[in-house]
Amino acid sequence: MGLIWTNKLSVGNAIIDSEHRNLISMVNDVSHEIKIGDGSALLQAFKLLENWLRVHFVNEEKIARAVKFPFEQHKLAQQHSLKELRYMKNELVAKDGVWSDSAVAHFTHSLKNWMVDEHIIKLDMLMKPVLQNYDYNFWPNYKDGEAGHAAGAAETHTSSAGGCGCGCGCDS
Ligand SMILES: [Fe+2]
Repeated sequence: MGLIWTNKLSVGNAIIDSEHRNLISMVNDVSHEIKIGDGSALLQAFKLLENWLRVHFVNEEKIARAVKFPFEQHKLAQQHSLKELRYMKNELVAKDGVWSDSAVAHFTHSLKNWMVDEHIIKLDMLMKPVLQNYDYNFWPNYKDGEAGHAAGAAETHTSSAGGCGCGCGCDS
């Protein structure tokens, strides 16, 4: 069974929560491809996840800075998180779909830990006390035409299958 976003994972902001739900779905897609052992599909799933993770980090920073949340340590942690994802991707892609059952268990567990435990619970949850002072739908008005929605909202990204075509920058 894949990861499921629940209200317990809410950090108090609709955009961040929505993006976390979509990222969790993408992590589930990556885990699925690890179990299937399709190296090519796995690479595409990783690319989609990495591209949307970058969009998410930018949106998170915009929100955090707008609510005056101290973001420097958070940003370092984001960069570390991106490196960890690339490390996992490189390790798996180099094996080109040939890995053991124990490797499947290891990497799927590592991905869950990476997304839910490290990113949402240990990191983003630190913003919740501040975010709860704002409307749940809060989004900073940085420039004309950007207010009210986050750049590259990921609602349509629930699967790694097929082309993307959404402007997130991925080449799938
Ligand atoms: Fe996040």
